[in-house]
Amino acid sequence: MTKPVLVTAAWPYANAYIHVGNLTGSYLPADIFARYQRLSGNDVLFVSGSDAHGTPITVRADAENTTPEAVYKRFHESFLEMQTKVGISYDLFTSTHTENHFKVSQDVFLALMENGYLYKHTEKQWYAPSQGRFLPDRYVEGKCYICGYEGARSDQCDKCGSLLDPEKLIDPKSKIDGSTPELRDTEHYYLDLGKLQQNVVDFLKAREDYWRPNVVRQSLGQILANELHGRAITRDLDWGIPVPVQDAAGKCLYVWFEAVVGYLSAAIEWCKLNGTPDEWKKWWEDPESKTYYFIGKDNIPFHAVIWPAQLSGMGTKFDVIFNGKEGKPLNLPYDVPANEFMNLEGQKISGSRNWAVWVNDFLADYDPDPLRYYLTVNMPESKDTDWDWEDFYKRNNDELVATWGNLCNRVISFANKHWGEVPEPGNLDEIDQDLLDTIEKGFETVAREYDSVHLRAALGETMRLATEVNKYLDVAAPWQLVKTDKEAAGRKIYTALRAIDNLKVLFAPVLPFTSERLNQILGYEHHLFGKQYIETVQDSLGEHRVNRYDPADAQGKWEKSSLPAGQKFGTISPLFKKLDASIIEMERAKLG
Ligand code: MF3
Ligand code: ZN
Repeated sequence: MTKPVLVTAAWPYANAYIHVGNLTGSYLPADIFARYQRLSGNDVLFVSGSDAHGTPITVRADAENTTPEAVYKRFHESFLEMQTKVGISYDLFTSTHTENHFKVSQDVFLALMENGYLYKHTEKQWYAPSQGRFLPDRYVEGKCYICGYEGARSDQCDKCGSLLDPEKLIDPKSKIDGSTPELRDTEHYYLDLGKLQQNVVDFLKAREDYWRPNVVRQSLGQILANELHGRAITRDLDWGIPVPVQDAAGKCLYVWFEAVVGYLSAAIEWCKLNGTPDEWKKWWEDPESKTYYFIGKDNIPFHAVIWPAQLSGMGTKFDVIFNGKEGKPLNLPYDVPANEFMNLEGQKISGSRNWAVWVNDFLADYDPDPLRYYLTVNMPESKDTDWDWEDFYKRNNDELVATWGNLCNRVISFANKHWGEVPEPGNLDEIDQDLLDTIEKGFETVAREYDSVHLRAALGETMRLATEVNKYLDVAAPWQLVKTDKEAAGRKIYTALRAIDNLKVLFAPVLPFTSERLNQILGYEHHLFGKQYIETVQDSLGEHRVNRYDPADAQGKWEKSSLPAGQKFGTISPLFKKLDASIIEMERAKLG
């Protein structure tokens, strides 16, 4: 039965290029999962966008002597390019700098205010007398008062993952000029997390059995150890979304308060673009809908605690404020499958030290599917992992090329040479049927792994099935048989082709480009997936570019092959390229 599935990936700050660690942390797993769900026939909506506001953007703009808008647009454009090339098939990749997102975020604020979950409070914030301005969030760095890490930002510590109270930061220094800021009074709106704590605890307890342990620890575990208390959700900044009340001139919504709202606003924007403005409720209000949030571990508290608090605090008020209609509660996250980090050659990835593999650079020299493959076998699902160029080289050559690519190439070329088309199966022998049974079970065993968001295991099981076909061919030996009994050889080759046709689908979520090609090589005219494209849209904030996905001719299905005998092959060419060992040292030399 078709079910609504909302798949989301973290919204990257539009202040840096995307490296392989970011990709395997959230965007790639989200895409693999979305593609699997689409093949399964579910009603998938896959959204994200650029996180365009807040101090991550303004600090960079200050450093470059340019505007936050220019920074956001430059990196947003690079994201669109990256996603197209590596096949992150968002139904909509938008940004937080749109008229729609402004309104939805302001309405979330107002809904929480009407329900009594916001309060005004004057507290001390860091202020730079020399600049005559407040220094929110990333403008101040210092020592984490929880774990002692020296490079903590005033709102968040990257080392221990804690959300921080800015005024408690030890040895604060201004990011602008290194000076020591002073504390001054300022009035802000606060989200009353204390009042929402019970909702959040109930929500988490209902999920702790199936969530990844690290996510439970960093949400439920932390709340039980330390009660929640109010957090400021406005800032003294002018780049961002204005606070929608009279008395808040010069203040904006805190970037984390509004960025998570993007999951809702992007769904709304997608429906508006399609001319079905109310359709978003299918993903957000239907209790049958499941919502998945693919993020890196540094984002856990915002998605597993604060966003659920915001959603539950709105109750049924969002609809009422947004479009004056009677409201329903919005769905809380079904799963937040956060990944750990990927390191690079044994060290933490660092953009500023150029200790990184940039996705756009990588794709100038290599194909997308080997990248997706390597990042999936190595995905940091339960612990940190390491990108190692030698390992990349070996897995490309030994697994993708030798096991899967050569299997396809060998069987299809042989079939084409001797039959010129898919041969007649006749009556399958027992070992033929056994192989097909084994492979076809993959539609359940691999599905089970995907359904529980074990992407590594899903791919591992698929590759294992591919090796079964190689074993079968070693025994069935059609290459010899064809000389003495062509009909029997045809049966073996038909069996292998059917197995390959099945594996094509099982591999497709991870290897969409080569599965699509294989589909053409096997002689099909349909496409497995839809098409990604960039569109320019206009609103009151100006022009804005988005990535979209057109499912029109996507006919891939998570179901057994029924490859017809007599089908003619398309243009045959190898799916993967063998790499030369020299790339290992060449690539290592580019680091640092
Ligand atoms: N911009 C944040 C980061 O890169 C992630 C934001 S996810 C969102 O860490 F949902 F809040 F947008
Ligand atoms: Zn810390």
